[in-house]
Amino acid sequence: MIEIKNLTKVYKLTKKQMAEQKTKKNMKKAVDNISLSAKKNEIYGLLGPNGAGKTTILRCVATLLKPTAGEIAVCGYDTVKEPEKVRESIAFLTNEIKLDPQFSPKYMFNFFGRLHGMDDKTIDKRRELLFGYFGIHDFQDKKIDELSTGMKQKASIAVSLVHDPEVVVFDEPTNGLDIVTARSVTDYLKFLKAEGKLIIVSTHIMSEAEKLCDRIGIIINGRKVMDGTLSEILQSTKSKDLEDAFFELYKECSSEEASYERGKGNN
Ligand SMILES: Nc1ncnc2c1ncn2[C@@H]1O[C@H](COP(=O)(O)OP(=O)(O)OP(=O)(O)O)[C@@H](O)[C@H]1O
Ligand SMILES: [Mg+2]
Repeated sequence: MIEIKNLTKVYKLTKKQMAEQKTKKNMKKAVDNISLSAKKNEIYGLLGPNGAGKTTILRCVATLLKPTAGEIAVCGYDTVKEPEKVRESIAFLTNEIKLDPQFSPKYMFNFFGRLHGMDDKTIDKRRELLFGYFGIHDFQDKKIDELSTGMKQKASIAVSLVHDPEVVVFDEPTNGLDIVTARSVTDYLKFLKAEGKLIIVSTHIMSEAEKLCDRIGIIINGRKVMDGTLSEILQSTKSKDLEDAFFELYKECSSEEASYERGKGNN
């Protein structure tokens, strides 16, 4: 249902970004030839450190960025050729897109419902269900600006799911949440999976990836260094937990890169 083939994304850096990243190159390869596929009834996790390329991958899946090379199909629709069809099929959540702070959760929910072409009755039913689950009812008429971090995140999640899409693309959905709120979010993702949806999430939290994801893709420096079920990853890295497996792979990547850089120096 999500098929990523040889995805590469190169950003052109501004002078300011070059200075910030202490580089003389004006290009940054954020995603480097990544292929992966994820199916319905599964939670696929992109696990990687800061700057690994997780958000970039998910933004390409959600049609917000165009790949520099490679292609992505979501529910059979190409993200570049048929972006509207893709957007109809997905819920997308990321830290960078925030609900308008001046409006209420109820207003935003109804607004996005209508944008998706839903009638008022269906919107009301979905709102009852999602606001009920996430405990938003008492806050639904308050300004988003006045809500706690957790309530804002839960409202964003509920709004993103208004049209009951087949595919859920969540970038660090539990970021900044306390353990109780985080658990309600991960439990809901498991519920969606049981309903037959496909969920793709990014995280840098090892325990979350271990507990939540059916398959995990480990992303380091824009590359997918391994993917599989937890037990497959532990087996092939001969590790006892995901953190050990991650460091094993991280060490390999760093030494490969160091020898590549040394090789370049010799030329
Ligand atoms: N708009 C942009 N312009 C230039 N470079 C960017 C842009 N967005 C991301 N990058 C760079 O691309 C790389 C990958 O970034 P990305 O945000 O995809 O990583 P991430 O895995 O989501 O990291 P994090 O865990 O910090 O969210 C980083 O080096 C980042 O600095
Ligand atoms: Mg990110």
